[in-house]
Amino acid sequence: MSVKVDSWGSRVGLILAMAGNAVGLGNFLRFPVQAVQNGGGAFIIPYLICFLVMGIPLLFIEWSSGRFGGKFGNHSTPYILDSMVKGRILKYIGVFGIFTNIAVAAYYCYIESWTMSYVYHTIRGTFDGMSQAEVAGFFNSYTDIAHSTTGLPYEAVIFYVICLLLNTYILSKGIGGIEKVAKVGMPLLILFGVVLAVRGLTLGTSGASDIFPDANAWDGLNFLWTPQYESILDLKVWMAAAGQIFFTLSVGMGTIHCYAAYIDSKDDIALNAVSAGFMNEFVEVVLGSLIVIPIAAGYLGLDWVLQNAGFGMAFQTMPYLFQQWGPALAVIAGVCWFGLLFFAGITSSLAMGTPWMGFMRDEFGWSKNKGAWSFGAMILILGLPTVIFYKEGVFDEYDYWAGTVSLVVFAMLETILFSWIFGMDKGWREITSGADIKVPNIYKFIIKYITPVMLIIIFLGSLFKPLDNKWSENVVSLASGSGWTLDNGSIIKTVMHAGIRDQIALATDPVLIEQLQDKIMYLNFARLLLIGLFVFISLLVYIAFLKRRREGRATL
Ligand code: PHE
Ligand code: NA
Repeated sequence: MSVKVDSWGSRVGLILAMAGNAVGLGNFLRFPVQAVQNGGGAFIIPYLICFLVMGIPLLFIEWSSGRFGGKFGNHSTPYILDSMVKGRILKYIGVFGIFTNIAVAAYYCYIESWTMSYVYHTIRGTFDGMSQAEVAGFFNSYTDIAHSTTGLPYEAVIFYVICLLLNTYILSKGIGGIEKVAKVGMPLLILFGVVLAVRGLTLGTSGASDIFPDANAWDGLNFLWTPQYESILDLKVWMAAAGQIFFTLSVGMGTIHCYAAYIDSKDDIALNAVSAGFMNEFVEVVLGSLIVIPIAAGYLGLDWVLQNAGFGMAFQTMPYLFQQWGPALAVIAGVCWFGLLFFAGITSSLAMGTPWMGFMRDEFGWSKNKGAWSFGAMILILGLPTVIFYKEGVFDEYDYWAGTVSLVVFAMLETILFSWIFGMDKGWREITSGADIKVPNIYKFIIKYITPVMLIIIFLGSLFKPLDNKWSENVVSLASGSGWTLDNGSIIKTVMHAGIRDQIALATDPVLIEQLQDKIMYLNFARLLLIGLFVFISLLVYIAFLKRRREGRATL
């Protein structure tokens, strides 16, 4: 059953697909917000260092693990890891590499469906003549399924379903389908991005609007790009930078392993990994910082941007700002912007479907059709709660556990496994074999020592994040025996809903108290779904193991 049935058509196709996997909503929506919230120029140094000592190493680890597993006919992390190390247990680390993709796809596709809807509304002229407040109101009503006033109450659900159908259909065409979409989508994305970035840059310093005469697009850029060296000591900024690097490069997820498993064992991975990684960084730091922030700063001023930074800016503000360019340009800009987001999104959500499909095909002989449709069905079941209970926080709960915590946990475990159990000497041979570049030797050292240590620090740091991020104070207090005060944002306290419970304790209004209690209920429901998914996939991995053992194919 492990015959090699699918593979990449060409090197260009592979690199575009990998870049498409990495370049996503994270580059345009998440990066600018993270940068602004973490002090602009203060963010950029930790960000670049994290790219070099965790991003690039993880790319090497995942590309080489994937190609290695592919040699043995394995296309998803549980059995890719199983082909690297002996033992019955370690392959279950790979459960993360299927789980995370399904859980992230559930909410990621929801944002993707907004971009489709916004292209439609731009063309239909829905935003014409709307004030800023009205554009923001449109978004609020669109996502508030129960009370929507945007015409069709279930419009958000309908676009979501259409988006899933589209993803499912393309996935059912296999790797070749993904390659085709990437070959069309990536160049268009760059084109749209350049058009908008040029426009953002030429808004200039003169106060682009009469709304806020002092508003200045360059203020936004200067804020983002003036490095601030004090930030080097702020652990909070490091955490945010590392989180952004994982998310944006799609590492710690399992998609890269899966894509790489379809590479011929003689082909290069080192140069490919670096090319796709740098392409993502170009799109992120250049295009990602030249659109939303400067345009919003150009019309509304930097102060407004600093106060309102959030990924909603893309939907709650941009359609209004584009109108300042006149009706015709507004349509072009709107289609470019939401079209760009759509291509960024779909080339990533397609990637998230592949580990599941690869796994079911390898282990249970499922066809591409069966794999794709079952993926679509799972996303629908897990995703509808994020759509319907968006306002109750289900969406954010998924993003926290699947899109943030899981990535770090899996990245940490797989790095230790690669460098210390598979072994760095073997690992280095895998990374460099067939390589079209000379990988600097320093990376052997980095991957073996620096990357795992950084990952462990980041994991422990988020587990035990101290109150208000006061690290040094808490270390002193711990040493003097007066203990450690956890922050509500630490993983340990988040598990217990500490933040919401504090709010309940302080609240006096019974209606508010009830709302908060309901919120806990919704979040627990979301967790139950995620735990259920995790257990389900672990079981499948176990069943696959039994099956392999019966067929005499198990490694142990
Ligand atoms: N890297 C993508 C982004 O920046 C998100 C993603 C994560 C895609 C994991 C695939 C897998 O938006
Ligand atoms: Na990205």
